[in-house]
Amino acid sequence: MPLKIRMSNGVDVPFIGLGTGGKPTDEEELEEALRTALTLGYRHIDTAHSYGTEKVIGKVLQDFFNEGKITREQIFVTTKLACTAHRFEDVQHCLRSQLADLQLGYVDLYLVHSPCAMQAVPKSEGETKLEPLNIDICETWRGMEAVFNQGLTRSIGVSNFNVEQIQQVYSTAKVKPHNLQIEIHLHWPQKELITLCNALHITVTAYAPLGCPGKKKESHWPDVLPLDEPILQVLSEKYHRTPAQILLRHLTQRNIIVIPKSTNGKRLKENLESTDFFLADEDIEKLNHIPSKCRLYRWRERTSHPRYPFTDD
Ligand code: A2P
Repeated sequence: MPLKIRMSNGVDVPFIGLGTGGKPTDEEELEEALRTALTLGYRHIDTAHSYGTEKVIGKVLQDFFNEGKITREQIFVTTKLACTAHRFEDVQHCLRSQLADLQLGYVDLYLVHSPCAMQAVPKSEGETKLEPLNIDICETWRGMEAVFNQGLTRSIGVSNFNVEQIQQVYSTAKVKPHNLQIEIHLHWPQKELITLCNALHITVTAYAPLGCPGKKKESHWPDVLPLDEPILQVLSEKYHRTPAQILLRHLTQRNIIVIPKSTNGKRLKENLESTDFFLADEDIEKLNHIPSKCRLYRWRERTSHPRYPFTDD
């Protein structure tokens, strides 16, 4: 099993990446985690304008380049467009400022973070708040094609788009999306979107592939999270791998890229080493048949947006 998957444009993506979003990040903790991850052999880092982690990532990467530990060509960096930069002309400005923070000349993958464009409007003196802005996602996509054609990114894609939104972009795109990033885990398998992407030759990346262990439970979350499913103990003993490794392998063995987050050295290593075994077909089937439960990231603050994508739960 190769450790990378090739996108439709011939660019290879390492199956295991390091997620850097999600929880409020302590910069020192993140810097330490990035150094540990790169030293362990991680070669794929996922970030976004909204995570606020690009400057730290840029600093650590520069150190590793300068120390001759890795080269730019060896590392795959994904980042995502700001929700306030969906207008055609704003996409390029936004990516250029992100590249400055990342201290890079290009990223490997640039994603529209969600179909929901926003605008900052005045709230009270000196303060602003975000309000929905109804921009056609095809306009944003033209901006994405422009930065791709300028060589500011090697690939482009979307995140948190639903079936209809992907079809809309795909049908008008001159450069077809290379990747879709969505929440996928044992309890939210996203079969319809994965089938669509396979048919359209769009690679798929799973965020929250472990199902957010350690995160404070939200009211709609089930009592049992993916890592607590009894079948994982059984498979863990059978394969002599940890439950987290079984969850990640269940995804990568089906050609899904995973970006688990961790700031713990032992777990970073465990996650990176999750591709060195094979689950038997019958066990993949058993995992495929665990009943779906729910989407963990519902993104409540965007539910009134005209382009809110999650209407399936
Ligand atoms: P920690 O940073 O303490 O390792 P997801 O990417 O699905 O949202 O999950 C992220 C969460 O999973 C983090 O809280 C992280 O905590 C935890 N985590 C990461 N790797 C593992 C692992 N191998 N086993 C158990 N928990 C893990």
